[in-house]
Amino acid sequence: EPAKVYNDPIYAGIIGGTGLQSFSSFVPVATLNPTTPWGNPSSPISVLHYHSPVTSTTIPVAFLSRHGLHHELAPHEVPSRANIAALRTLGVRTIVAFSAVGSLQEDLKPRDFLIPDQIIDRTKGVRPFTFFEGGMVGHVGFGDPFDEALGKIVSKCGHSLIGDEVKLHNGGTLVCMEGPQFSTRAESNLYHSWGGTAINMSVIPEAKLAREAEIAYQMICMSTDYDCWHTSEAVTVEMVIGNMKANADNARRLVGAVLDELSKEEHQELVRAKHLEGQVKFAGTVT
Ligand code: ADE
Repeated sequence: EPAKVYNDPIYAGIIGGTGLQSFSSFVPVATLNPTTPWGNPSSPISVLHYHSPVTSTTIPVAFLSRHGLHHELAPHEVPSRANIAALRTLGVRTIVAFSAVGSLQEDLKPRDFLIPDQIIDRTKGVRPFTFFEGGMVGHVGFGDPFDEALGKIVSKCGHSLIGDEVKLHNGGTLVCMEGPQFSTRAESNLYHSWGGTAINMSVIPEAKLAREAEIAYQMICMSTDYDCWHTSEAVTVEMVIGNMKANADNARRLVGAVLDELSKEEHQELVRAKHLEGQVKFAGTVT
């Protein structure tokens, strides 16, 4: 039975998306139910111990299931502010966030992984997307929406993926749509023609809020389908479920490889996001 308290800081967080609701391969040591001024997070936060065979160290990680323990939250219902705030109060300064995505380019095949470096926001403004309101006016750069240093580390871990021809693609543009309905074919054709690499419903506002919280954030995309721009035969539910299952197995391998890397002495400043301290500028503090 995991404990209900955990007193050491936890620097690394994992947010699981559709198809990745648990991380049973790690040792569960605590289940936390933090509350925040923005409400409760999507799910209890599991504190897991990962023992790295590479560095022979044990690192605690905080795992949160974005859509709830039983996938009960639609993308527009995810309490992203509570999720990011809850992780931050535990000490989390580095997040790898998983998401199932549709592919917008031929080269990104179902079951491939993508480490995006750009975002096009096509959400509709219905989701709370900032911590800075109600008298606290803050601004932060978002030109490069993912953490470059963290992205580089994740990009180097492609060797951990298994499966015939499964590839890890480095760099690309992630389109974030409102959903929950998928795109029309005209929209999908448009995003394809813009050069978008993949599409999901989850990176916004999560990435914006992580940036505001001065947390190093990188999304890891797992391709489940070609979106409807693609003229292949109709996508079947069995196909998508099979792809999601294969993706989840690979996601666990990839996280292990990323944590092996992050547990190295040379990355401790990154894990603690020292490079992000003071990024946010508040109107009241700018003189
Ligand atoms: N998530 C997985 N596949 C998707 C698609 N085709 N469009 C939007 N989000 C997705």
